[in-house]
Amino acid sequence: MTAPHKNVPPGLLFEPFKIKTVEALPFSSQREREQWIQDVHYNVFALNSAQVMIDLLTDSGTSAMSDLQWADMMKADEAYAGSRTFLELQATARELTGMPEILPVHQGRAAEHLLFSSLLSGGETIPSNGLFDTTLANIQDCGATGINLPCAEALDPFAENPFKGNIDLEQLEKLLAQKDSKIPLVVMTITNNTGGGQPVSYQNLEAVSKLCKKHKKFFVLDACRFAENSYFIKSREAGFANLSPREIASKCFALCDAVTFSGKKDALVNIGGLLCVRDAALGDRLKNRMLVVEGFPTYGGLAAYSMAAMNQGLHEVLDEKYLEYRLRTISWIVERLAAAGVPVLRPAGGHAVYLEASNFFPHIDRENLPGIALTTALYTEGGIRGCELGTVAFGYRDSHGKHVLPHLDLVRLAIPRRVYTEAHMGYVVNCLVDMHRRRDDFVGFEFLEEFPVLRHFRSKFRKLGS
Ligand SMILES: Cc1ncc(COP(=O)(O)O)c(C=O)c1O
Repeated sequence: MTAPHKNVPPGLLFEPFKIKTVEALPFSSQREREQWIQDVHYNVFALNSAQVMIDLLTDSGTSAMSDLQWADMMKADEAYAGSRTFLELQATARELTGMPEILPVHQGRAAEHLLFSSLLSGGETIPSNGLFDTTLANIQDCGATGINLPCAEALDPFAENPFKGNIDLEQLEKLLAQKDSKIPLVVMTITNNTGGGQPVSYQNLEAVSKLCKKHKKFFVLDACRFAENSYFIKSREAGFANLSPREIASKCFALCDAVTFSGKKDALVNIGGLLCVRDAALGDRLKNRMLVVEGFPTYGGLAAYSMAAMNQGLHEVLDEKYLEYRLRTISWIVERLAAAGVPVLRPAGGHAVYLEASNFFPHIDRENLPGIALTTALYTEGGIRGCELGTVAFGYRDSHGKHVLPHLDLVRLAIPRRVYTEAHMGYVVNCLVDMHRRRDDFVGFEFLEEFPVLRHFRSKFRKLGS
């Protein structure tokens, strides 16, 4: 990264902030952790956060906020209607997205729920580069089906391709051209969380936009990580190096009809989201619906102080120094793991490090849940909490009860924004390298109690041989 001084050691993560408030790390022993994880049947979602030393479960809602965000929270106007804070947020979001209709919501899935329940009536198919689990759940809740059409490069977890978040345009075109298909809209997720936090190129978004116009489809951008995606475009796509992340983001937003946005990622806040739409009549319908399920349109599901923090976060996240540091953090970890032979998804994505669990533990059969073996080992060995996003999260049973496995068996280590330091990340790397060296010592798992939807959140597991 660009060092602010020539004497910054190369490769070092030069954090572009100083720390004003600190929170103690909860230390624990391996023996304690072995007991705690056994008590919750090996599901890390059931642990208390006090039992976790380095929490990489999610990058959602876990950002450290800045002094300016906290200051703006104090200045927020909590009026029920016509709040000054809402008007400020509305101005920022309008300028950034170019969308006139700005609806504040309590988090991303509320935006998804509002939009999809207004546009879908059942029986539709929704194509995407990669639907996040809540997005898919909201589509299914409306009686529609989601279908992911990742580009071919995304199928190889170790291929170094700059835009593995892209959609397969040929497949999309084929689907949209089918006469009897019921496809009202297309969703593009930037970055593609489900596919490894991989970016989508501007060229790919532009092509999707053209296809949507040609086939008269509504184009939705799930823009949780729009700033990270913009910086990837700036640094990897020809012709964008001289544009600012803000200019690139605005160009991307100009391509679509609606934006669903979880502020818990790239607005650097602990709660909040936005639904932005171009069409005034749709905006009106959504506001009427919003009154029933979220709140009055000038506060949505939020306190004004949360809207204030989101407004300031939307400015801070587009700072180039921050984005450079942010993406460098992930690549710093990935480079070290790859050099040590740890099977890590490449190239580095924007918000998380993804490990391929079935490659990490090749001796554990995929039906014996190598991802749960890995999340358990990471926790017991290092006090580190990651998230299984493989067989448990995205697999399911067929009508004969047989496992249907997803293409990749990933474990995600999501990096909270502005929270951990280089020393913490170095510790995570060392734990993983050490575990990988001793990989034959670890055993598989089976379901003890299996939940029907979003299985990773609440299912319970049994360690084989215990
Ligand atoms: C790509 C993507 N879309 C939507 C969501 C849902 O956002 P929220 O958790 O704010 O409801 C998430 C959350 O992680 C996400 O990663």
